[in-house]
Amino acid sequence: MFDYKETWKKIIAGAVNKLLNEAGINETIDDDKIIAENPPDPGMGDIGFPMFSFSKILRKGPPQIAKVVAESIKDVSGTVEAQGPYINVRLDRSKTSKVILEEIFKNKTADNFAFARPGTKTGRKVMVEFSSPNTNKPLHLGHLRNNVLGESVSRILKAGGAEVRKVCIINDRGIHICKSMLAYKEQGQGKTPESENIKSDRFVGDFYVLFSRDVKKEAEQLIAHGIEKEGAEAKTQSMQKAQELLRAWEAGDSETVELWKKMNKWSIDGMKKTYERTGISFDKYYYESETYMLGKDEVLKGLEKGIFYKQEDGAVAVDLSEEKLDKKILLRSDGTSIYITQDFGTAINRHEDWQFDQMIYVVGSEQQYHFKVLFILLEKLGYSWAKSLHHLSYGMVYLPEGTMKSREGTVVDADDLIDSLRDLALAEIKEKGREEDVGDPDEVAEKVALGALHYYLLQTSPVKDMLFDPKESLSFTGNTGPYLQYMGARISSMIRKSKEQDCANADFSLLTTDSEWELVKILAEYPFTVSDAAQYLDPSRIAGYLYELSKAFSRFYHECPIITCEDKSLSKARLELSRAVMFVLKDAFYLACIPFLEVM
Ligand code: ARG
Repeated sequence: MFDYKETWKKIIAGAVNKLLNEAGINETIDDDKIIAENPPDPGMGDIGFPMFSFSKILRKGPPQIAKVVAESIKDVSGTVEAQGPYINVRLDRSKTSKVILEEIFKNKTADNFAFARPGTKTGRKVMVEFSSPNTNKPLHLGHLRNNVLGESVSRILKAGGAEVRKVCIINDRGIHICKSMLAYKEQGQGKTPESENIKSDRFVGDFYVLFSRDVKKEAEQLIAHGIEKEGAEAKTQSMQKAQELLRAWEAGDSETVELWKKMNKWSIDGMKKTYERTGISFDKYYYESETYMLGKDEVLKGLEKGIFYKQEDGAVAVDLSEEKLDKKILLRSDGTSIYITQDFGTAINRHEDWQFDQMIYVVGSEQQYHFKVLFILLEKLGYSWAKSLHHLSYGMVYLPEGTMKSREGTVVDADDLIDSLRDLALAEIKEKGREEDVGDPDEVAEKVALGALHYYLLQTSPVKDMLFDPKESLSFTGNTGPYLQYMGARISSMIRKSKEQDCANADFSLLTTDSEWELVKILAEYPFTVSDAAQYLDPSRIAGYLYELSKAFSRFYHECPIITCEDKSLSKARLELSRAVMFVLKDAFYLACIPFLEVM
């Protein structure tokens, strides 16, 4: 990819080194020590080079250095000017537009836009774990953020040259699963998702809600009879029965195992529908029920080796005071495993399956401590690859008060949220009288809903908590997914209309007005944005880029007649510029999991 900033860094470094040489200073400055900035005001030029850092070796003030260096640069295309402590470079618009756009068209293949990205970390094998649900409840709003982050980061890493494998751990065993099982066993009356016509994961989740309600009621009764509030829930009959069910499951009781299989299938089948609907996929699913025994073995091995110790009550624990962390229990006194136990087995299993160079866990920030401990312990157990494990932690997602009613006892379901976004989008299409034009209004509404949702969720950098405002996300004006989709549709329609126009050999050197030039420069930045997003595992950089691109395109579209331009050569160049914007849009949409719409 044409990197004009890099080219200019070399020129500036050369000039600075010449100055050093002339001053008899035996030192050279590397190209990468030269800082290139975007000037605050485009009127000042295209690139600004601050001279502050050379002041010490040259024993001169930065403005003085800027002046001498600028004067020494000759025979280049573009102009060089000292402005205070900065050297400002103005590129030759005509020549640069030509190079950048020809490069873009050379790199794209048919509809698939293979923009050459700076090859950071090419060929690295990265495993990305995300979503990782429990089988007692359907996916909720938090999962939607997790899913789009995981999918988007995976796509970005791949675009940056890594080999990526997307995985998911399904936490399909343990006490929480037994809770929904118990409620179904006692109150299900043989009903099925089919008989009730309810999405199968929600069907299971409803029994979990039922269980929670029962426990609460029973606990209240116990408290009324004088039992201490603290720990009252654990003393309820329902809770004890659930524990019993877990013991039966662990002992392999066939009736319990059958029920477990049936309900897990409902749950997982339902969740897979939500993945499919939102464009999320995995290369492999791992199941806690298949890895937790390996995890237990691993803890026992650690006990033998003296890395862990047995407490008086029989529980296995580890002392992490040297790491400035607390003591941690790894196996309960009754030998049953806890949340972290399975993670040993799962990680080991995965590394045996595919020897990754890095594994990224996309999991909420409330589990930071868990992953810290997990990584330290895997290293203590002797797995050298533990160093390559990374927790991509993300913040909470809230809804504005009163936006959506959550079902009793649970958070807002992912399916419900997408449904309501889709309904709002459909209403908007109808209100605008666009039903006929868009072809299939339901399909378009669904895609608009996903565009709104995914763009909104990715806009905030992963670490931050955020508020998801459904109405705002769907607005067709402003910094939203639908606004971007609308821009894509507008360009598509323009290109369709101009089909007859011959576009071969467009002369890109004609693109020199302010708004054309700004757009060209933003296009040239795209590959660097992708590699930054890959390096920092941060899709919000793609979202931010999309907004910049859309603003620049809008300005160009308003200021420059395209099809109606009288100068046919210029019209052709502008049309091709729009086509290049569409390629980049499509590519970035894919990375951000935003559906592209030809009509809207
Ligand atoms: N299912 C877990 C939860 O809902 C998240 C699993 C995260 N991944 C892991 N390897 N522990 O809290």
